[in-house]
Amino acid sequence: MKSIQVTAEHVYQVFVGRDILAEVANHIDGATRVAVIHPQSMQTAAGQLRQSLSNVESISIEVPDAENAKTAAVLEFCWMALGRAGFTRNDLIISLGGGATTDLAGFVAATWLRGIRVVHVPTTLLAMVDAAVGGKTGINTSEGKNLVGAIYSPAAVICDMNFLDSQSHDDYIGGLAEVIKCGFIRDETILNLIESDMLGAQSPGWTHAPEVIARAIQVKADVVGGDLRETLGTSTGREILNYGHTFGHAVERIENYTWRHGNAVSVGMMFVAHLSQLAGRLDEDTVNRHKVILSGVGLPVTYNRATFGQLHDAMRIDKKSRGSKLRFIVLEQVGKPAILEAPDAALLIAAHGKLGQGEEHA
Ligand SMILES: NC(=O)c1ccc[n+]([C@@H]2O[C@H](COP(=O)([O-])OP(=O)(O)OC[C@H]3O[C@@H](n4cnc5c(N)ncnc54)[C@H](O)[C@@H]3O)[C@@H](O)[C@H]2O)c1
Ligand SMILES: [Zn+2]
Repeated sequence: MKSIQVTAEHVYQVFVGRDILAEVANHIDGATRVAVIHPQSMQTAAGQLRQSLSNVESISIEVPDAENAKTAAVLEFCWMALGRAGFTRNDLIISLGGGATTDLAGFVAATWLRGIRVVHVPTTLLAMVDAAVGGKTGINTSEGKNLVGAIYSPAAVICDMNFLDSQSHDDYIGGLAEVIKCGFIRDETILNLIESDMLGAQSPGWTHAPEVIARAIQVKADVVGGDLRETLGTSTGREILNYGHTFGHAVERIENYTWRHGNAVSVGMMFVAHLSQLAGRLDEDTVNRHKVILSGVGLPVTYNRATFGQLHDAMRIDKKSRGSKLRFIVLEQVGKPAILEAPDAALLIAAHGKLGQGEEHA
């Protein structure tokens, strides 16, 4: 089992390995009651988890699947369940599911009695390397995704990779986009390992899977540790985790959220790699390296399903671009991100043009 330390409001550990669900019992920390918040697909696992916690009283709170969990109505349902079971400040919430579940359960924990402890047990690759680490929690509203939430760090995160075996291949590959992102912005070893076996890398059973997952979590932990509340606004701040995301979010919006997040981020990274090169910041070889590694694991690297105007409009409403100016995290070399503010439209158009060249695959 590998462990990664995260320094946030408090210090906590993220554990990565196989057959490590029993580790949860080491983080009960005096709670007398535990609530396991999970979707229906994790019902059996929730039962096993509760059985392993025989010293505490436990309840299951079953919530709707995926994004349907991230609503005010479900939040209220969870509050009611905790109230009925008499949850006090010493008690504990455990999230068991993908990023939607960890986002919801983290926010339930942040709000119940102004904050009770939460242990995340993420069950998808995206939740392990991204959602469960870093403290962002929240729900959606009819006006948009993740508009209501809190920064609220967990007491521990337990990534049992056994869960990944039941994830669909495409969902796993989507999660790999964020792992590769961590490689480009901070840890070249991730890229070297994946390049050494692009086919193997596509499966959670791969020899190096624990290492690349732990390394991606380490990147997130390091970046978030330096800028928990995303106030820095420099090339070392939390914003660098948005590499590929300004364009990626625009693609998600244009595709009405039918694209996997990781696929959108993959074309987003490709776009911004082209942009970095056109802006004179990045060499051609590193742009090609993006193409080889992303397409090598089965992620899309071209996008010509929208006009530049549509994409530009969609990027401008991205809440992560500050003020009215577009801001991109670009790359100067592997491990060296930088900020490019308000690039010329001509550069953006040229980068968009380069992105359309090649075969189309969604
Ligand atoms: N808080 C953050 O920093 C952060 C970062 C990235 C993403 N997110 C959020 O995470 C969510 C996306 O995460 P996700 O992709 O894990 O989605 P998800 O939670 O919607 O899970 C995707 C699907 O996989 C199923 N599932 C979960 N674990 C499984 C397993 N082991 N085997 C088979 N099926 C399984 C779920 O039931 C669901 O149907 C979004 O809501 C996003 O906003 C948050
Ligand atoms: Zn992302």
